[in-house]
Amino acid sequence: MTDVRTILRQAAEALGDRLEAELLLAHVLGVNRAWFFAHADDELGTDATAAFGGLVRRRAEGEPVAYITGTRDFWSMTLEVGPATLIPRPETELLVELVLERLPAGGRVLDLGTGSGAIALAVAKERPDASVTAVDFSEPALVVARRNAERHGLQRVRFAASNWYSAVVDERFDVIVSNPPYIESSDAHLGQGDLRFEPSSALASGADGLDDIRRIASGASAHLVDGGWLLMEHGWNQGQAARSILERTDLMDVFTAQDLEARDRVSGARLAVR
Ligand SMILES: C[S@@+](CC[C@H](N)C(=O)[O-])C[C@H]1O[C@@H](n2cnc3c(N)ncnc32)[C@H](O)[C@@H]1O
Repeated sequence: MTDVRTILRQAAEALGDRLEAELLLAHVLGVNRAWFFAHADDELGTDATAAFGGLVRRRAEGEPVAYITGTRDFWSMTLEVGPATLIPRPETELLVELVLERLPAGGRVLDLGTGSGAIALAVAKERPDASVTAVDFSEPALVVARRNAERHGLQRVRFAASNWYSAVVDERFDVIVSNPPYIESSDAHLGQGDLRFEPSSALASGADGLDDIRRIASGASAHLVDGGWLLMEHGWNQGQAARSILERTDLMDVFTAQDLEARDRVSGARLAVR
């Protein structure tokens, strides 16, 4: 028998990451991480010890913690994630903030490529007045997104299978938001770390990583109300390219916003008010 403090220390050493060890043990025990403060001297049973050992091995072999535990925190929610969905990243919260700044009362939002539902659900949670539509071409991802909506009492979010705008042909929105795939298809990172386990259809987007940004930008003006905004996440080195794509559309007021690390992260533009 081993106590919680010792087993956590050993796992943290093996993984080189204390937080990951805590997340995995919290998952096995069905507790939150704060529990460890008061229970460091508790003895772990043999079943829990064996189960934890199995998860630490999976992590040591590279599987992302979020796929092992089946959850990832985003905004103020714990979301279900799985091999069909991208694991939501903290930097994507910037997109949510930019949507909330621009969404008028009772406004309509379209989240293109919703994955686990992260962006759509965060906006719907903050803005009960908003009408939120979320699409993805991955049916398995939509199954997870719908479960997340239910888990957070946000069933009013409308989910649809769609190849970008194909399911919303005649609709217009106040804000279109997307965290599309934007990695160059030859990028070596796709074969490394957590990215190896995530769906490549959620990550890669042609030779320069910008194919989907071009598609979304070119379709936006037909789906925005006058004055409506398009906001897209991209890589830290794609700000200038994203702006020049937007400048070639009939959108205006093109801008790039930076994330907490002062790196280009989101570019956007809006349809003129006629
Ligand atoms: C980078 S992930 C973003 C997921 C989620 N919005 C987030 O931020 O965590 C991109 C998403 O776009 C979806 N996608 C890729 N190509 C698409 C297409 N042509 N039409 C609709 N969705 C697409 C993928 O299935 C994936 O869920």
